[in-house]
Parts: sequence; structure tokens; C-alpha cells
Amino acid sequence: RATMPQSPELPATLEEACEGALQCRRCGLCEPATQTVWGEGPPTASLMMVGEQPGDREDLEGRPFVGPAGQILRAAAREAGVDPEQTWLTNAVKHFKFTPRGKLRLHQSPNRQEIQHCRWWLGLELAFIQPRMVLALGASAAYALTGNSAPMAGRRGQVESTMHGGSVLISWHPSYILRVKDPAERAKALAELTEDIGTAWKASR
Ligand code: URA
Repeated sequence: RATMPQSPELPATLEEACEGALQCRRCGLCEPATQTVWGEGPPTASLMMVGEQPGDREDLEGRPFVGPAGQILRAAAREAGVDPEQTWLTNAVKHFKFTPRGKLRLHQSPNRQEIQHCRWWLGLELAFIQPRMVLALGASAAYALTGNSAPMAGRRGQVESTMHGGSVLISWHPSYILRVKDPAERAKALAELTEDIGTAWKASR
């Protein structure tokens, strides 16, 4: 079970936490980003799925997992018999970090400090939603939730303890699946993500 983080300006509700996150100036990522991308789903969700940070599409739309990685995640969830709309979908970091390259904005992984600054908001989401199980998608989410920055290989499919007092199943990030070149490897990683979503969902019921 999640515990409430300590601070003088502690939001009293999930809505207040969201309003606070929309104004967040805890790190520099808010400057170039279009907007804060807060989590989405039923506030009573038993399963929370945590990605790394919003991508280009998410930054523009203000919603998590609506771009290419989100399509993979949502399809994998449905394949596992899980309605993604019944889960709380969020990210370790709530602003898009990128390098401008011409008209493109190239994704950059958040660093540890940025993840630590944003952990405040993730802690509030956990405290108000109180999911029975959390699925960490990729290394940034795994680090945000556990404080453990060990490599993903060897951790995927394992349950670890969150810094907030709950359990988290570690899985691949859907963008990682998009990057795997070898088709057999890619299919394996996708099957593992699908399996992990199903396992996490069952553990949350
Ligand atoms: N990748 C993530 O980690 N989160 C999103 O919301 C979109 C892409």
C-alpha cells in the first residue's frame, strides 16, 4: 500500500495533485515542453502502468500513451485480456524531454535527477489511487518506482518492492519493442510484455 509523501504543500486530492503537476517547476523540463502530461484512467484502478515520459504525440495532446508506443501497449493489454482504459496509465516523468533536430523533436531519456524530481508526483498518484499492483515499463519507470537502476535484463518479469511501500512487476518499455531489429526477438519481447500485463492485472484483482 502506498504511503503519502511528506511536504508542506501536500495536495489533498488526486485533482489537486494534478493541478499542482500542471504548474510544476521542479526541474527544467517544463520549459521546452508543451504541457505536463498527467496520468489517466479510473482513480479506483487496481493496476497502474508506468512508462518513462510523454513522447512527441503525448506532449502535443496532453495525454499518456497516445503515440506509437502507446498503440503497442494498448494492443498488448487487449491481447492479454486487459482493457487499458481500466488501468491508470502514467509516466515516471511528466514532461517530454527532447533535442530539436530540424522540424523533429528527438526523444532523450530523462536523467536520474529529473526522475527524482518527478517522483513526488508519481508518489502522489500512488497514494491517491492505491493500486494493488504496478507495472513498470522500462528502466526509467523501474528506477522511479524502486530506486534501483540495475539493467533491465534479469529484472523483467520479476516483482520488486516500490519505494512507496507496494509491489511492482518489471517489464519492457513498448518503445524498446519497436527498436528491436530481429523479428523473432521482437516477437519474444512483445509476448513477454503481453504476459507481464496479464500477470500484473491478475495480481491486482
Ligand atoms: N512512452 C512513454 O513512456 N510514455 C508515454 O506516455 C508515451 C511514450
